[in-house]
Amino acid sequence: LRVAVLFGGQSSEHDVSLLSARNVIKAIDIEKYEIAPIVISRDGRWLLIDLEEGALPDPVPYAGQEVCLLPGGKGRLLVVGDPAGSGELPAIDILFPVLHGLYGEDGSIQGLARMVGVPLVGCGILGSATAIDKDIAKRLLRDAGLPVARSITVRSGDTLSFEEAASALGAPVFVKPVRQGSSVGVSKAANAEEFRAALIEAFKHDDKVLIEEFVKAREIECAVLEQTDGTLFVSLPGEIVTGQAHSFYSYEAKYLDEDGAVVSVPAQLPADLTQRLRELSLDAFRALGCESLARVDFFVRPDMSMVVNEVNTMPGFTNISMYPKAMEATGISYPALVDRLIEHGLA
Ligand code: DAL
Ligand code: MG
Repeated sequence: LRVAVLFGGQSSEHDVSLLSARNVIKAIDIEKYEIAPIVISRDGRWLLIDLEEGALPDPVPYAGQEVCLLPGGKGRLLVVGDPAGSGELPAIDILFPVLHGLYGEDGSIQGLARMVGVPLVGCGILGSATAIDKDIAKRLLRDAGLPVARSITVRSGDTLSFEEAASALGAPVFVKPVRQGSSVGVSKAANAEEFRAALIEAFKHDDKVLIEEFVKAREIECAVLEQTDGTLFVSLPGEIVTGQAHSFYSYEAKYLDEDGAVVSVPAQLPADLTQRLRELSLDAFRALGCESLARVDFFVRPDMSMVVNEVNTMPGFTNISMYPKAMEATGISYPALVDRLIEHGLA
C-alpha cells in the first residue's frame, strides 16, 4: 500500500511540520507500506521527493516532481506540467497529512481527501475545523460541561481597551489568534501598551482574536488515540515545564531554545486527578467531533482545579513533542503508534 505523507504546508507551522514528518517517516513500517513523501511548499505546490536511505533529506529539497490528486480519482496521482513524462504515477492508497495549522489541521486537506476519494490518517473535516478554531472549540467544550478559561473574542475593527479586558478577565491577559498553532502570534499583555502590540501581532495571523484570562497553572497534556473498533485510548498525562527564560510556552520555548521546555511523562499528579484528566480528555475529544487522534491540553491550578486549554488534531511529532512521548509512556511505541494511525485511516 502506498502512503502519501504530506508535510510542510502553507501554515506558519511549516517548519514544525518538517520536524514532525521526519520522525513519522522514520517510524513507518516499510515492509508494509511504500512511502510517497510529498512536501507542500509555502505557496501550496505539492512536490514528490525522494527519501535518502529511508529518511527525509536534510535540508528538505523543494525540487521534485510537481503532482496533484485527481478529483474523484481514488488516489490517482498526476504529474503537473510534464509533457515529456508519463503524466501519471502509481496511485495513492492513503493520505497521511503531517501538517499543522491552517490548510492541514483545519479541515482543508480533510475535505480534499474526501473529494479525491482517498482514505486519510487523522481527524476528519468536522473535528479538524472545530478544534482549530479556539473560539468555536471553547463554546463546544463549555456546552459539554467542560471547564475552559474565561475569554473575549474580538474581530478586526472591534474596539476593546486593556482596561475593559482586564476588568473582565484580570491581568495579565493572553492574546491569541483564534486559528493558529505552536503559539504563533500569541503574547501575554500586562498593560495597555503591551495589549496594543499583542493585538497587532495576533491580527497579523487571523481576523479573529481571543483575549483570555491568564491561568497560573501547570501545563498538563493527554494524548488520545481512537482504535479501529472506535474505542478511545488515552495516555497518562504529561507535563510541560517551561524554562525560566520564557514567560510562557511560546514558539521560541518550544522549538528554538534547546532549554526552552521539558516534557515529563507521566506528570506527577494525585491518582484521582490523573483519572479525571483522562476522562475529561475523552469528553473533549467527543465534544469537538474528533476522530483518530488528538492531544488535549489542560491547565491545572495549584488547588487542582483545571481548565481545558485546547485540543490539537495533528499534534507535533517532533523530538520534543508530547503526543508520541505520552503514548510511549503508556505502552504504545512510536512505530506502533504510527502503524495504528494508518490502520485506523484504512479501516
Ligand atoms: N501545534 C503543534 C504542532 C502542537 O500542538 O504540537
Ligand atoms: Mg494548538
